[in-house]
Amino acid sequence: MDISSVLEKKKCGMKLSDEEIRFFVDGFTCGSIPDYQASAFLMAAFINGLDREETVSLTLAMRDSGDIIDLSAIKGVKVDKHSTGGVGDKTTLIAGPLAAACGVPVAKMSGRALGFTGGTIDKLESIPGFSTSMEPEEFAEQVNTIGMALTGQTGHIAPADKKLYALRDVTATVDNLSLITSSIMSKKLASGSDAIVLDVKTGSGAFMKEKEDSIKLARLMCDIGVSAGKKTMAVISSMDQPLGHNIGNSLEVTESIETLNGNGPSDLTELSLTIAGLMIYAAEKAAGYKEGYDMARKALDDGSGLEKSRSFISAQGGDPRIIEDTSLIGTAAHSYDVRADESGFVASVDGRQAGLASQHSGAGRVVKEDEIDHLAGIVLHRKTGDKVEKGDVLAQVYGNDGEKVRLAGEELIKAYTIKKEKTDPPELIQGMIGV
Ligand code: URA
Repeated sequence: MDISSVLEKKKCGMKLSDEEIRFFVDGFTCGSIPDYQASAFLMAAFINGLDREETVSLTLAMRDSGDIIDLSAIKGVKVDKHSTGGVGDKTTLIAGPLAAACGVPVAKMSGRALGFTGGTIDKLESIPGFSTSMEPEEFAEQVNTIGMALTGQTGHIAPADKKLYALRDVTATVDNLSLITSSIMSKKLASGSDAIVLDVKTGSGAFMKEKEDSIKLARLMCDIGVSAGKKTMAVISSMDQPLGHNIGNSLEVTESIETLNGNGPSDLTELSLTIAGLMIYAAEKAAGYKEGYDMARKALDDGSGLEKSRSFISAQGGDPRIIEDTSLIGTAAHSYDVRADESGFVASVDGRQAGLASQHSGAGRVVKEDEIDHLAGIVLHRKTGDKVEKGDVLAQVYGNDGEKVRLAGEELIKAYTIKKEKTDPPELIQGMIGV
């Protein structure tokens, strides 16, 4: 087999066999197929599409390109949770402890910030003392005793995706159903869990802007998860504006604690309960999703979710006193008020633009080598549907570099659209698949 004939076939819109796709993935992973041929493959696949069978082959070949994590030392049905990428999305820090409080073994490996979207590992590292690196035995032991552990990725999971994602990013081939599905599901299938709960984002701040495309993506990912032997469910949730009020690492940890305390914003609370409900159902701790949701609600109301968060933070070396006093996480040296330049109602807060402003305030990396400012980020005081008077503070930007904070503030104002007539906030939960 040679790569030129594989490329020729896909260029002509023909279907590739499992062997041809594996040949491409294996060759690209080991370096015998160079970036320029892989780029041609991606563009041909993007333009002519991959059908379901080809997408399954690509996903499984990418899964098999690296380690497959063995979580069999952990008792019970392990459930992984994944979001397709959002701004202000801190649901793992809320749904994880709620599900764990209901008996779900939460053994989660998370990533770092990618572009304008945040990463759970960076958020947790804003907690004084918190360690996100653990030996596999330690990880399993903590889940068996406390019910929850969260680390950075151990091992060498789906290296083909790492290389392909870097190419997709620079060849305009990210937003394709089959390529997103294979990228996410190859990592999820290698991560050792028994079941997978997906939060597929839709709207202006998501890869998939249209609801129909997000539903198709959720269906395809669930279909592939199930055919690989894992129970897989998805919620489709709006990313037309950031989730909750806070964006940026320590600010998101603070808002998660407030939410577990029962004082969170309604959108964040609702989505976290929905995801926890799905995790509880997927882990067979509830007979159906509705029962799982009610169990999560109870864990929120009786404080057992908050207690679970305290024990998990403490077990990983973090200061558990932040549960009572979030100011112990620290406060940034500078802040900047973003004010309304007209009166009316907030018609939209663009998630992508807000995410970029947060990244540029210091909360994210612009280049891989950048150090994150854990105290940097944004607090949105007004969101879609809120009434504003000219001069009102719409949002505040925080950070330790005054100039970055000011520039991010000037960028953030562009995320807001204000109109005379009131717009209703977007519907948060837009569908569920596999429930
Ligand atoms: N997240 C991923 O890991 N891969 C994609 O392709 C899109 C989002």
